[in-house]
Amino acid sequence: MPWRSFHKLKGEAEMQNLRQAAEEVLRRNDRGAFTAPSSRQYPHLWLWDAGFAALGWAALGDFERAYREIRAALRGQWRNGMLPHVVFYGWPSPYFPGVDVWRSDLAPEAPTELPTSGITQPPVLAFVAEILIRHDPDGGRASAFRREAFPALYAYHRWLHTARDPEGMGLSVLVHPWESGMDNSPLWDAALARVSTEGLPLYHRADIRWVPEEQRPRSVDYDRFLALILHLRSHRYGESGVQTSPFRVYDVLFNALRHRSEEALLAMATALGEPTGEIEGWLARGRAASQAHLWDPVCGFFLDWDAVAKARIPVIAAGGFLALYAGLAAPEQAREMVARYLTNPEAFAPDGGTRYLVPTVSKAEPGWEHRRYWRGPIWVNLNALIAHGLRRYGFAELAETIRAHTIALITRSGFQEYYDPCTGEGLGIGDFTWSSALLLAWDLLETPDRRN
Ligand code: DGY
Repeated sequence: MPWRSFHKLKGEAEMQNLRQAAEEVLRRNDRGAFTAPSSRQYPHLWLWDAGFAALGWAALGDFERAYREIRAALRGQWRNGMLPHVVFYGWPSPYFPGVDVWRSDLAPEAPTELPTSGITQPPVLAFVAEILIRHDPDGGRASAFRREAFPALYAYHRWLHTARDPEGMGLSVLVHPWESGMDNSPLWDAALARVSTEGLPLYHRADIRWVPEEQRPRSVDYDRFLALILHLRSHRYGESGVQTSPFRVYDVLFNALRHRSEEALLAMATALGEPTGEIEGWLARGRAASQAHLWDPVCGFFLDWDAVAKARIPVIAAGGFLALYAGLAAPEQAREMVARYLTNPEAFAPDGGTRYLVPTVSKAEPGWEHRRYWRGPIWVNLNALIAHGLRRYGFAELAETIRAHTIALITRSGFQEYYDPCTGEGLGIGDFTWSSALLLAWDLLETPDRRN
C-alpha cells in the first residue's frame, strides 16, 4: 500500500529541531503550578491534558515538574473521589463556561478552596503516574510519589465504579460529551438531540474568539452542552442528576483508558503491598462488560452504548481502537478492526481524498466533517494511543506508519490542536500542549506487555 511508506521518519537532525520546538511550546504554556493546554483558548488545568503534559515533562527529564502536574490535577479532587475535568487555576479568565457557570460551590463534595467543573474527563492519570514512576531515575523519589498519589487515584477509580456505574454494568457512564474528551463527535448526535435547550439563558461563546467557528462545535451543540451543565448543576452534581440526565452513554475510549489505568493501579498496589482484590475485580468486570456490551460482532468493532436508548451507537469512531491500547480486544477482534476499518480506504486509511492517519471518525459516517474538531480531524493523543495499542497486538509496521504520519503533520503545520486529514493543515488553536508533549513522550506510552 503506497501510503504506508509515504512518510518516512525524519532524520535525527530534523527530529532534534522538532523536539526543541516542542519543548519551547511546553515551556510557553507552563504556568508553574500546572501546564495550560493552550495559553488563550484553554488557560486552566484540564484533566487528561494534565496527564499528557506530565509525560512531556518526564520526557524532558524533569520528573519533579511531571509530578507537580499530577499533584495539581489531584488537588481538584472532590470528597466523593471525582477528579473534575477543569480545575480553575488562574481564574478569572475569558474562558467560557467559567466558575460562575459551573458553580462547584453548590456541590457538597467539591473542594472549598479551589473552583472546578462538575464533570470528569478520560481517566489517564493512573497510567501516566505509573509511567512516571517506572521511568524516574531517582527510585526513592518515585516510590515516595507512588505512596503519595495512590490513595487519590484509587478513590477516583472507586468513584468511577460506584457513582458512575448506577446500573452495575461494569462500565462507567458519561453524562456530558465533554467527559469523553471528544466533545462534538458524531457519536453523540442522537443522544444530544434528546437534550432540551428550552429556557437556556443568553450566553456568549469564548471558544470562537481565536478559532474559526467552522472548526469548532456548532452552536446547536453548544446550547446542549450548556443545558446539560445546567441540568447537572441543578442536582448539585449528585446522583439524581446522573440518573435523570438525558445524556447517558458508555463510551469505548473512556472505559478503555479506565481499564489501562487500572492495570497501572494494580501494579502500583502490588509495589506498595496494598490489597489488590478490588482492582482485580474491576479489571475482570471491565473486560467482561466490554465484550458483552461494547463489542459488536456484526460491525466487527467496539461501539459505544446509549444507556437511555438502550442500544449501541452505530458510529465507527477512532476511540474504538483504544480497546487495543487497553488490551481489551481478543486477537481476532483486533485483526478484524484493523482489516475492516483502519487499513480500509473507505473508512480510516488514506484514499487520495484523505492523506493521513488516523481521522477521528470513519469517512463512511454521515456525520464526518474533516475540519470540525472531533468529527474527522486527526489528534496527536489518539494517534499515539492507537499506535501503542497496535504494537500491543503485533501491528508494529502500522504503528510506525501512524507515528510517521503524526510527525509529518507536525512538521508541516506545527503543534496544532488538530489537523485536517485531507491536507495536513493545522486546525484549532496553535501551540497546543499535548501535541508537543506527546511528540516528546511518544515512546513512554508503551503498554505493559511491550516492555522487556
Ligand atoms: C472546551 O471548552 O471546548 C472544552 O473542550 C470543554 O472542556
